[in-house]
Amino acid sequence: MLKIAPSILAADFKRLGEEVKRVEEAGADLLHIDVMDGHFVPNLSMGPMVVKSLREITDLPFSVHLMVEEPERFIQPFIDAGTDILSVHIESSRSVYTTIQSIKNLGKQAGIALNPLTPLCSIEYLLEEVDMILLMSVDPGFGGQSFISNVLPKIRKARQMIDERELEIDLAVDGGVNERTALSVVNAGANVLVMGSAVFHKRDVCHALDSIRKLVS
Ligand code: DX5
Ligand code: ZN
Repeated sequence: MLKIAPSILAADFKRLGEEVKRVEEAGADLLHIDVMDGHFVPNLSMGPMVVKSLREITDLPFSVHLMVEEPERFIQPFIDAGTDILSVHIESSRSVYTTIQSIKNLGKQAGIALNPLTPLCSIEYLLEEVDMILLMSVDPGFGGQSFISNVLPKIRKARQMIDERELEIDLAVDGGVNERTALSVVNAGANVLVMGSAVFHKRDVCHALDSIRKLVS
């Protein structure tokens, strides 16, 4: 089933709570929360305190995308704050396997994220351990960038790897997903669309989500 995960990086931060309610009421499936540390990516965003505050106002599942070095240091604080799915980058830690296990031991879902240039073979031995693969289709760090279409064969390959192993895991694509690129992303095999600007920059979010669902159905 297709899931749409609006990324709050593109929300109006002056009214973050209302923005989250806006996408919840419009039928979003997950809330994608981008965490950046100014080291792994050249930008800073938000931490567990924001997640904790938002947890009080919505029942949407929280999918936290950790773009930080040494993500193992932040697993517990983000889970305590109310995260449901926590994704770490394969490029960000020397102990990704252990980090994934800690997330699962805390009773939450674990995702593995890959930058556009990172090959899929780097996560081959983790496939059985994760609940989500998060393929970046822009260099991480900023919203509003253009989709890198060279990632499409990688999405197809990831879908093939998942299906061959008969795994029930989500395949998410993040970066530049909008009404022009969503169909090719879904046709390549993704079932989770992370969308920042293409959702939050729209006046009518309900219409935006419906159009995407119709487009790819
Ligand atoms: C980029 C983030 C994305 C970003 C997507 O580093 O991981 O989640 O918010 O934004 P759009 O959809 O505008 O490309
Ligand atoms: Zn993201």
